[in-house]
Amino acid sequence: MELLAAHLQELAEQIEAYPVSSRSELEQFKAYFLGRKGVLSAYFDRLPELPREERARWGRQLNALKEAVLARYERLRAEIEAREAQQSPIGDLSLPGRRPFVGGVHPLTQTLRTIVRIFTRMGFAVAEGPEIETDWYNFTALNFPPEHPARDMQDTLFVDSEVLLRTHTSPVQVRVMERKPPPIRIIAPGRVYRNETISARSYCLFHQVEGLYVDEGVTMADLVQTLQVFARHMFGPSARIRLRTSFFPFTEPSAEVDVSCFLCGGTGCRVCKGSGWVEILGCGMVDPNVFEAVGIDPERYTGYAFGLGVERIAMLRYQIDDIRLFYENDLRFLRQFPIS
Ligand code: PHE
Repeated sequence: MELLAAHLQELAEQIEAYPVSSRSELEQFKAYFLGRKGVLSAYFDRLPELPREERARWGRQLNALKEAVLARYERLRAEIEAREAQQSPIGDLSLPGRRPFVGGVHPLTQTLRTIVRIFTRMGFAVAEGPEIETDWYNFTALNFPPEHPARDMQDTLFVDSEVLLRTHTSPVQVRVMERKPPPIRIIAPGRVYRNETISARSYCLFHQVEGLYVDEGVTMADLVQTLQVFARHMFGPSARIRLRTSFFPFTEPSAEVDVSCFLCGGTGCRVCKGSGWVEILGCGMVDPNVFEAVGIDPERYTGYAFGLGVERIAMLRYQIDDIRLFYENDLRFLRQFPIS
């Protein structure tokens, strides 16, 4: 019994001293003591050889040694894992993940996409033109005579006397009609620039969507119907529009179009300034002088055109009361418009 005690004492020391520096050595350590042919197993196997009254005592001792092996095993395993985590090029794989920042789509882009989708479904193709334009496309071909006071309607940013930043998307009308004979049915979304005092209601750049439909027999009724369909899709089935006579050099007759204020339903609120209506676009029948400038026979063809303000529509849609918010890129503002 004394010899057995000494053996077990030695075993206890071996358990603590067995060298372990890697995962494979750790498994070897456990197998050496606890494996089917391990050292401790051999002692367990021979327990029945002891006198009956001694077995329980030595059994407890062997169990204590087994616990010591398992305890050291767990301790070493934790150490090895911690070391591996530090060495890993991507850090501790057991840490919870960081949520990636998901960007949104700018409210103007969302609005622009909605507008474009509505018109393309009605059969309009999308056209584009340059933001840096010549006087011809922005003014002269659109029936603004030189020195005509109508040019003052739009505060132009000039590059030089002939070149300017387009003040509207209407020059795209001219570019499209020059290139292609009727029938023409296009929209032209894009940026425009004006030298205006910046305020809650106006900014030095904004977006328009131009529309142009030219064919034989196009009438103002087609225009009104198209805009009515647009308004219902954009603002909801109860949206109504109204036309007010207006003036643009490139359309005759001309009109401005209001949509019923969907916020208050037309009873009057802050957005519509109590009138129940909000202006969203200018439009009219293409002036024969514009057809002549681009070589389309005004005796044969007629057409309508419109230009709608994207910021206006986005402000209505999201109840935004300051146009500058669109251009400040304040994330606290932008995060309110998740991808739709
Ligand atoms: N280009 C005009 C503007 O910017 C809008 C418009 C477009 C009017 C087409 C009539 C026809 O104010």
